[in-house]
Amino acid sequence: MNEVIEAIKSRRSVRSYTDEMPPRELIDQVVEAGLWAPSGRNLQGPIVLVVTDPELRARLSRMNAEVLGAPDGPDPFFGAPVVLVVLAPRDQANRVYDGSLVMGNLMLAAHALGLGSCWVHRARQEFDTDEGRAILAGLGIEGEWEGIGHCVLGYPAAEGVGRPRREGRVFYAE
Ligand SMILES: Cc1cc2nc3c(=O)[nH]c(=O)nc-3n(C[C@H](O)[C@H](O)[C@H](O)COP(=O)(O)O)c2cc1C
Repeated sequence: MNEVIEAIKSRRSVRSYTDEMPPRELIDQVVEAGLWAPSGRNLQGPIVLVVTDPELRARLSRMNAEVLGAPDGPDPFFGAPVVLVVLAPRDQANRVYDGSLVMGNLMLAAHALGLGSCWVHRARQEFDTDEGRAILAGLGIEGEWEGIGHCVLGYPAAEGVGRPRREGRVFYAE
């Protein structure tokens, strides 16, 4: 099978990670693949916040759990040491489409490089708070951003669960 298609089909969401921090060079390759995603009108609006700082990672995890309504529940980032937050400019009509394609590229590239990943949602609610906006401002990220998703990243401690695709989702008009 073509290796890209093989990678697409074998990627699974990983929900258990070791503590080992992937090397920066590997993280950067994943992020670069994300930036090569196509975008409407080639605006290239989405940005990626690469979080490896344990303190900020813990803060985002807590904020995410709060959105989930389970502040005392398990880590919504599944123990992954890296969190890539994709955000897109609020004033761009295609922001969710563009940002989602970045997310897809990140997850695929991670898999191709031997890392596990998972889309963790609720980035929009997280960064719609004063705390979320303050975090971005504190990092020098100016402007109005909508959170699209977190791509959590790391070395799998357990493989993802196989999820066969549903039948009957293709229609032909020949
Ligand atoms: C928009 C979106 C939001 C998701 N949010 C979460 C999430 O918050 N937590 C989680 O564990 N998985 C999340 N996922 C991962 C899906 O559950 C997963 O992709 C799906 O079960 C199929 O499994 P697979 O990725 O292994 O093929 C999300 C995926 C997408 C596309």
